[in-house]
Amino acid sequence: MAILDIQDLQKIYNTGSEELKILDNLSLQIEEGRSAVITGESGSGKSTLLNLIGGLDRINGGKLYSCGFPIHDLSEKQLTDYRRKSIGLVFQSHYLLKDFTALENVAIPARIAGTDKKTAIERAGELINKVGLGDRREHYPSQMSGGERQRIALARSLVNDPDLILADEPTGNLDEKNSRIVEDILFSLVEDYKKSLLLVTHNLILTERVDLSFHLTCGVLKEK
Ligand SMILES: Nc1ncnc2c1ncn2[C@@H]1O[C@H](COP(=O)(O)OP(=O)(O)OP(=O)(O)O)[C@@H](O)[C@H]1O
Ligand SMILES: [Mg+2]
Repeated sequence: MAILDIQDLQKIYNTGSEELKILDNLSLQIEEGRSAVITGESGSGKSTLLNLIGGLDRINGGKLYSCGFPIHDLSEKQLTDYRRKSIGLVFQSHYLLKDFTALENVAIPARIAGTDKKTAIERAGELINKVGLGDRREHYPSQMSGGERQRIALARSLVNDPDLILADEPTGNLDEKNSRIVEDILFSLVEDYKKSLLLVTHNLILTERVDLSFHLTCGVLKEK
């Protein structure tokens, strides 16, 4: 099965009188369990594409199937459900809630998705161990380094057992050393939990660690 099947996708932004065509007849297929990297210049539309796949924004034309759902046809309610259960999102910023511990931060999306408290905490604890921060579970984001916070964000992205992880420059705010640590953890999580991955990065070395790599230019994806 294809985890992602995108056909002739169009994304246009209207800014006053001007129409900005950001993605133009873009097609992409990724089989379940595969990992893929997208590179491309700043402003080429990488985040726009990930946001569309993640159901955070709407396409203007074409078809977008993700995790078995026709994303272009879903209602807002169905889209919210898809975002919660099928997709794990990781961004350049960790977006952890400052008044909650690491454990609570990871458990919250599970609680929102309707998981009972005990199960949510258990699963969050397991994932925090997986990212190597078991001893930091009661710490608040302000007590952790940037790299550690991003590892907690990785744990959080998996708490609802999604099929597809979408990661938009997850190491963009980190130094070299911490970038390597976070990348290694991301790849081992994807492998251990058998997830599909779509990763936007500027780190060209990562293209060697994935099944597929694409370059986004002039609104179109080209396989490398
Ligand atoms: N809401 C919006 N309204 C109008 N234009 C937008 C909007 N969001 C993004 N854009 C434009 O779409 C283009 C693609 O932006 P996007 O953020 O997807 O690029 P990117 O490839 O992720 O860049 P970067 O590598 O800097 O993160 C840019 O020209 C941007 O200005
Ligand atoms: Mg971006």
